[in-house]
Amino acid sequence: MNASALGTPASPTGDTTAIRVQHDETDPLVVISEVNKHYGDLHVLNNINTTVGRGEVVVVLGPSGSGKSTLCRAINRLETIDSGTITIDGTPLPEEGKQLARLRADVGMVFQSFNLFAHKTILENVTLGPIKVSGMTKKDAEEHAMALLERVGIANQAKKLPSQLSGGQQQRAAIARSLAMRPKLILLDEPTSALDPEMINEVLDTMIGLANDGMTMVAVTHEMGFARRAADRILFMADGQIVEEATPEQFFTDPKTSRAQDFLSKIIGH
Ligand SMILES: Nc1ncnc2c1ncn2[C@@H]1O[C@H](COP(=O)(O)OP(=O)(O)O)[C@@H](O)[C@H]1O
Ligand SMILES: [Mg+2]
Repeated sequence: MNASALGTPASPTGDTTAIRVQHDETDPLVVISEVNKHYGDLHVLNNINTTVGRGEVVVVLGPSGSGKSTLCRAINRLETIDSGTITIDGTPLPEEGKQLARLRADVGMVFQSFNLFAHKTILENVTLGPIKVSGMTKKDAEEHAMALLERVGIANQAKKLPSQLSGGQQQRAAIARSLAMRPKLILLDEPTSALDPEMINEVLDTMIGLANDGMTMVAVTHEMGFARRAADRILFMADGQIVEEATPEQFFTDPKTSRAQDFLSKIIGH
């Protein structure tokens, strides 16, 4: 209900009470307009229209192959689009060059497979971008990195290599690394899907902490407890389209489309 809930994260899969302050719907950060993309004959993004407000948490759900990852990658310009526009904070996605590097800094991305540099320490993984891309001094970058590692709960792992950490710790390091660039938005594509079950909650709790701090987030996840509790809005995708867009309450209690009903019955059936 209020910020005091921040310090006492209940199990993200248990308590379904909405704990976030509402975002400002009049302040769009990402505007996606009439976006289309094909892979050969496959219409992987089919006329996508949506807006992500500053501070909003959007959870993208949908069956495998529905285009969720492609949408995330398009927002970060890891994939091109055939038509339509995507703007971040009022600026259309740049084609290439310096502006694209800046956009990448504005949009953090966390993948299922951590993608940490294996031969660098956790601290080096987190300081690399700020030093190389943002021109921070090593000392400033390390101070900032240590504060972020503290925030995600792994400051005591800073000197280790990724392989010396658990999967959950590695994913929290990857989150710290994306935060180090001071992004305006973080995209998380199935951030807990590669984790052993006992490590899922520590990553979800980290994500809930970010949400409570007002970070704008777009998260693809199959963790329905997290979606219910942390999302301001659910985007349900099927066959390259957004077929349903609703609050978690609406989506989980009264899905409107047969595609969403079918999806939920399969998930809840497990
Ligand atoms: N680089 C690619 N080339 C061709 N087809 C692709 C490529 N990437 C993804 N696809 C196809 O696009 C569809 C959507 O993929 P994706 O966005 O990864 O879906 P999701 O994340 O919802 O599972 C899938 O059918 C997938 O096989
Ligand atoms: Mg995917």
